[in-house]
Amino acid sequence: MRELKIAAVVVAFSLLTYYLVEPYAHHEMHKKVDAHGVEIKLESHGFTYDGTDDIAEAERKGDSALVDKKKAFWAEVSEVAKLKGDAVAGEAGFAMCMGCHTGANVNMGGVIPPSLDHAGRIYDKNYLIALIKDPAMASNVDHKYVDTMMHPMGSIKSMMSDNQQIADVVAYMLEKKAAEVTPKEAFAEACVRCHAVRYTKTTQLGETPVFKQEKEALAYQIKVLDEQDAVKGYMGTLPPDLSMIIRARGEHFMETFIENPQGQLAGTSMPRVGLNHEGYEKVKEYLTEAGDPSKKAREALGPWVLGFFVIFALLAFLWKKYQWRELH
Ligand code: HEC
Ligand code: HEC
Repeated sequence: MRELKIAAVVVAFSLLTYYLVEPYAHHEMHKKVDAHGVEIKLESHGFTYDGTDDIAEAERKGDSALVDKKKAFWAEVSEVAKLKGDAVAGEAGFAMCMGCHTGANVNMGGVIPPSLDHAGRIYDKNYLIALIKDPAMASNVDHKYVDTMMHPMGSIKSMMSDNQQIADVVAYMLEKKAAEVTPKEAFAEACVRCHAVRYTKTTQLGETPVFKQEKEALAYQIKVLDEQDAVKGYMGTLPPDLSMIIRARGEHFMETFIENPQGQLAGTSMPRVGLNHEGYEKVKEYLTEAGDPSKKAREALGPWVLGFFVIFALLAFLWKKYQWRELH
């Protein structure tokens, strides 16, 4: 009985530390502060985009011209969002996008333009509008460019400047490019152009095929290295392999980072990707599975292991009783 009491006390204190003290200490010791020591509260906005973070960042920099520019930009985005888009009319405009988003693995100004097959499903509507208006502003990397036309997708600004046309193209994507998406497809469309995932044999060129000849495998490897050099040239650094990232970083970090990379790593070259909630959930599912492929099997095994322990404890108890029966 005494042992049981001691065990109960130890368990209670462990749980208390684990669930209350540790997260609190973590929160207190990892406060994010700006240049003036004011705490920055990183909040998730439910994967919707209206420029709140971007404007707040410009205000923190104390750059009033930038604040005005960001405010005007996001105000116009919200004007376009109010227009009623015509999906049928939008098809012609979307054809212009396909000029770059060909689906062929060809690098264009630093990365391979992603497939837009599920663009209407995984990206937020406001974000898509913003992206067509000005890709660098939408993804919050305008600080990298003197003229945002220099962004690899920047020329879309001049190709499509009519607000109604933008609303139509976005309506087209929300209607025609919004089929059910798998975690793998979501990751391929949103992240692969920059990030490899070693554990799933995926590189910036997509999933690595199986080659019969070693020569072919080596030739492919060279293509991967060339692609990585191009991405590195564009980003200034090779984006990290994401095999383990979901285990290395907590949920809160991932959410707020994907919504707005600048909020977590000020000055980072990673652009905002503009995923909506479903898009993020799919990418998260992919990364969880990649980082821990045996998780499902392990969880299925759990109840069996516990059952084994219960039966074993029972047998041990009966065995003890049997052995000690003479001593009572
Ligand atoms: C001049 C070539 C070009 C044109 C035209 C173009 N894109 Fe892109 N697009 C790109 C490139 C390059 C990227 C990758 C940029 C990056 O990752 O920094 C991209 C990225 C994207 C992304 C993912 C961006 C993100 O932040 O997640 C979407 C969505 C997209 N384009 C939609 C469109 C739509 C819709 C159109 C037509 C209205 C269009 N693009 C026209 C080159 C182009
Ligand atoms: C256009 C290129 C690009 C795209 C697309 C992109 N990333 Fe990144 N990502 C980067 C770069 C560059 C870094 C390195 C940032 C740095 O060190 O400043 C990075 C860093 C990261 C990090 C690590 C942050 C840390 O802890 O250091 C995570 C997590 C991440 N990306 C997740 C994603 C996910 C998930 C997607 C898809 C939804 C994605 N990225 C799409 C370029 C990209």
